[in-house]
Amino acid sequence: MAPTNVQTIKALSESGALSSVPSKYSFATNPNDLANPNDPDHSIPTIDFSLLTSGSPQQRSTTLNDLKRACEDWGFFMVINHGVEERVMKGMLHMCEAFFDLRDDDKKEFQGTANVLDPIKCGTSSNVAIDKVLLWRDFIKVISHPHFNSPHKPLGFSEAALEFSKRTREVATELVKAISETLGLEADYIAKATNWDEGLQLLAANYYPACPEPERAIGIPPHTDHGLVTLLIQNQMGGLQVLHKGKWVNWDAVPNAFVVNLGDQMQVLTNDTYKSVWHRAVVNNRATRISIAVAHGPSVDTVVVASPELLERQGQSPLYAGMSYRDYIELQQSSKGYMKPCIDYIRISE
Ligand code: OGA
Ligand code: NI
Repeated sequence: MAPTNVQTIKALSESGALSSVPSKYSFATNPNDLANPNDPDHSIPTIDFSLLTSGSPQQRSTTLNDLKRACEDWGFFMVINHGVEERVMKGMLHMCEAFFDLRDDDKKEFQGTANVLDPIKCGTSSNVAIDKVLLWRDFIKVISHPHFNSPHKPLGFSEAALEFSKRTREVATELVKAISETLGLEADYIAKATNWDEGLQLLAANYYPACPEPERAIGIPPHTDHGLVTLLIQNQMGGLQVLHKGKWVNWDAVPNAFVVNLGDQMQVLTNDTYKSVWHRAVVNNRATRISIAVAHGPSVDTVVVASPELLERQGQSPLYAGMSYRDYIELQQSSKGYMKPCIDYIRISE
């Protein structure tokens, strides 16, 4: 029988007297695994969105080059000057905080079912029925496109989520066009190949309370995202780490910027030209961190395969078998996807 009554990490951390991490939450066997990496030798790629949408042709082309390099070298980049007002971003972070502040009893109606594509789902850890180690994290997830869903509490949440998800999707749409162009494809190529207009947008807010032993617990274990592009915002607390050239790199919080990363469906479509990148969320012992990750993908019925144009140009054959996005998400969220590259399940062996 699945344990359905695991209390939230928020409630647990507020119950007081928590001086160590309970064993159910003990993730790291070697505390050095989660030790703070410090790798000052790199500069994190930053894309000035305004130069893509309203720059001169010269500025746009320079920015596309920067974007291409960011996609090849990192699979992660910051997006600044994206036009989504601070009011909208901060407002959404505050509303998510207010959601997590609801009493656990009040949140119960949004718990959802065993279906990973529930329109609304909140809870703790990831999936307590299958999690081997509990995560130091509570979450609320809503599907915000093609149909918008939202909990009706707290007051104002739904309006804030609607505006935030619409505006974020506009940025994602432009980025996907630009990414198409960096591949030498028509700007609308990826959108057409993935039925973007009906594409899935999944908004996931994460709540990571301060943790007495941050080097033992984990917020979200190493994973890649399943979709095309994820846009993430966070409060002033950092905690995202990205695997870059074999090392975990701290990805610091930059106020009002989006952190953008490529997901598995982009890797399939580009046949490894652009890869989805491993990342994780670590926790800290100072203050609560809230992040909101907005994943954008194909429509759930779309079977993404490698672009024939890219294959022909590269003289390659497809590396991955087609699978509907719905099935891919279900596979990734099942126990088969835990700390393993889900994309390996669709890799065509030589
Ligand atoms: C995610 C994710 C990282 C973070 O929600 O998929 O990777 O920093 N979150 O919260
Ligand atoms: Ni992620």
